[in-house]
Amino acid sequence: MTLRLTDITLTYPDGEQTLTALDRVDLAVDAGEFTAVTGPSGSGKSSLLAVAATLVTPASGTAEIAGHEVTRLSPRERARLRRDHIGIVFQQPNLPASLTALDQLLVMAHLAGRSPRAAEPRARELLAAVDLSDQAHKRPHQLSGGQRQRVNIARALMNGPEVMLVDEPTSALDHERGARIVGLLARLTRERGLATVMVTHDLAQLGSVDRVYAMSDGRLTPEEVTPRWRPTTSAAVPPPAPSRSR
Ligand SMILES: Nc1ncnc2c1ncn2[C@@H]1O[C@H](COP(=O)(O)OP(=O)(O)OP(=O)(O)O)[C@@H](O)[C@H]1O
Ligand SMILES: [Mg+2]
Repeated sequence: MTLRLTDITLTYPDGEQTLTALDRVDLAVDAGEFTAVTGPSGSGKSSLLAVAATLVTPASGTAEIAGHEVTRLSPRERARLRRDHIGIVFQQPNLPASLTALDQLLVMAHLAGRSPRAAEPRARELLAAVDLSDQAHKRPHQLSGGQRQRVNIARALMNGPEVMLVDEPTSALDHERGARIVGLLARLTRERGLATVMVTHDLAQLGSVDRVYAMSDGRLTPEEVTPRWRPTTSAAVPPPAPSRSR
């Protein structure tokens, strides 16, 4: 299993009391599996991604990522695990304003100690994978919201992660652009064997995910998978029409 969270409880101090953001959460995501987490605002979705991203340490429970047990790692080892094995896409693409799309990706290689020149073919291949080959020279303000989000996704893939964590990738986009981003994530998940967790408010975007979980007050429960939520092929097989009684 590429990502396994077991019995995770995460608390935050809240005045005299503690707030339980995650309450005994279990989640397992295999390579090539696209998992969605839905739930109301404040229910704990971003907290779940923060634990999976090794950015916060839970009060109890274990997190295993790409064969590493996170609780056993030092902060430095955790940073390395994040850099080399985890792709993180935040809701707001925080792309440095002065860098071109290509350079946004090359910076990631540089941070991992690789020469940008050697990394350029991979960066161009990833920009092509997100259909941005002709936008490589543009800076963030010259790109649309959907294009920026695609740069963000390509950047997260630059160091070849096994785990991809994506927080509300479509919230700033209209429905059609949002659906394209989710379709892109589904394709990359399968083609590259990623274990992907995507947080979304938008139930209409769940057409191409393998599994859906609902978060409520810090508790995560699997949703029943309906035919509509079964993985579709890249040929975009339409869901079966509901049978109507005459
Ligand atoms: N750093 C923090 N310190 C204290 N409380 C926090 C912190 N981060 C989140 N919380 C609280 O933890 C709970 C879960 O927050 P979280 O951000 O995980 O929710 P969410 O489901 O992602 O919400 P949204 O859909 O609005 O993004 C909320 O009650 C929030 O106020
Ligand atoms: Mg959130």
